[in-house]
Amino acid sequence: MSLTVYRKAHFNAAHRLFREDWSDAKNSQIFGKCSNPNYHGHNYELEVGITGDIDAETGFLIDLKILKDVIYEEVEIPFDHKNLNVEVEAFKNINPTVENIAIEIYNRLTSRLDNRYKVTVKLYETPRNFVVYTG
Ligand code: NI
Repeated sequence: MSLTVYRKAHFNAAHRLFREDWSDAKNSQIFGKCSNPNYHGHNYELEVGITGDIDAETGFLIDLKILKDVIYEEVEIPFDHKNLNVEVEAFKNINPTVENIAIEIYNRLTSRLDNRYKVTVKLYETPRNFVVYTG
């Protein structure tokens, strides 16, 4: 029997969306307020879904304490209260859009979780804008 359990998490982070090879005017036109040269913050809300089978012995799909710790170590510690462009290696050369952040989170989590699980990352950048990435 396959089902999905979810764990929610939260982080605040700063970012700037821009391309160095574009003019300030073009960056502003394409990325709008997210191109502010002085950065700005978002309250990111994360939902991680783990799909798999229930372990007959424990009744668990996954030990949620383990999932909680993996999210804390791979997402909250490295991203919370950070400037994503400056402090997260993955975003030195690619824009920290909500799309790219969701993919980076997926890659970090799947590197730590048993590959029998299917992982779903749902990341909200604002209450109305979010991305779902499943690999
Ligand atoms: Ni932004």
